[in-house]
Amino acid sequence: VWSSDERAIITSLWGSVNVAEIGPQALARVLIVYPWTQRYFGKFGDLSSVAAIVGNAKVAEHGKTVLGALGKAVKNMDNIKATYTKLSKQHSEELNVDPDNFRLLADCLTIVVATKFGAGFSPAVQAAWQKFVDVVVSALSKQYF
Ligand code: HEM
Repeated sequence: VWSSDERAIITSLWGSVNVAEIGPQALARVLIVYPWTQRYFGKFGDLSSVAAIVGNAKVAEHGKTVLGALGKAVKNMDNIKATYTKLSKQHSEELNVDPDNFRLLADCLTIVVATKFGAGFSPAVQAAWQKFVDVVVSALSKQYF
């Protein structure tokens, strides 16, 4: 259940997020900081160095895809679990992604967003954002059980 303040914060923050910038940075960061996540992206080509990951066009493109999917959650804040039923099933049954990795990506995304917004990422904004990403992570993990 979201308070009207939380809704306003998430909607406004998301409105200022440039998906084409933040998405690639967040996905690149998770691949750099938690290198074992690279194993799922064997088809993406060279991930052998920080420079290779940051410059990898497939990583950038997929980062935008992931953030686009997050945008769906922002638009369906009261229905995030249902919104992600198919995506959760896909990550579990087809992609075999360990659900712990959702949290790692969420944390990298939070750091990228915080870096981007600086002082605008106040404790109140972080609190609402953290609640939002927690719901996203739990929704994506739901079809694993
Ligand atoms: C594919 C979203 C986290 C691995 C996808 C797709 C979306 C998506 C929308 C495309 C599905 C399609 O083509 O129908 C998300 C969201 C995440 C998340 C919203 C968390 C916030 C992760 C994590 C990993 C991962 C943490 C692994 C560490 C993959 C892989 C694919 C994929 C390997 C297939 C990529 C390809 O072959 O092009 N994800 N994902 N995802 N995801 Fe995720």
